[in-house]
Amino acid sequence: MSSRSASLDEYRTKFEDPDRLAKTLVIELDGVVIGDLMLAIEDAWAQSDIQEQARGVQAELGWCLSPDHTGQGYATEAVAELIRICFEDLGLRRIKADCFADNEASWRLMERLHMRRELHTVRESLHRSGQWLDDFGYALLAEEWRAHRRHG
Ligand SMILES: CC(C)(COP(=O)(O)OP(=O)(O)OC[C@H]1O[C@@H](n2cnc3c(N)ncnc32)[C@H](O)[C@@H]1OP(=O)(O)O)[C@@H](O)C(=O)NCCC(=O)NCCS
Repeated sequence: MSSRSASLDEYRTKFEDPDRLAKTLVIELDGVVIGDLMLAIEDAWAQSDIQEQARGVQAELGWCLSPDHTGQGYATEAVAELIRICFEDLGLRRIKADCFADNEASWRLMERLHMRRELHTVRESLHRSGQWLDDFGYALLAEEWRAHRRHG
């Protein structure tokens, strides 16, 4: 987890933060919430004179599944639908996500969904264990997603 709370109250405050809720979708199975997804629309980098054209064209995604429901493909199904929403419904041009390099479950999920590993940072991120960890960055362009859909 990228965040840990010292008390239930602190957790509740973070959970109910309107900025967080605005970027959160839930994964439901038979009416029970079994996980959540993050969808944060953002600007792409652009040269300053053409910045307007890069506003809100991409999204950072995130996911978390209850440990009781892992290993059955639910996260993959939910993230696949989230990616479809990004490209088909919202018309975005690129999605991206990061994970610790040792978070194999997360990067395997991204590879199942044809996301491309395009970044490997070395000992960039401080973990609460005190270790500086490597990160992987993955991305997918709308045209790549469409090509995978066409060719299965
Ligand atoms: C990342 C996370 C969502 C991945 O969960 P997951 O259970 O591996 O993902 P899925 O629900 O898609 O299940 C896929 C697994 O189920 C297996 N599976 C079993 N039945 C399946 C089915 N019918 N369809 C698809 N996959 C199936 C797959 O083979 C895969 O296992 P594998 O990776 O060993 O091959 C989960 O580990 C998690 O919530 N971690 C904590 C939060 C976190 O780290 N978030 C990311 C921060 S960057």
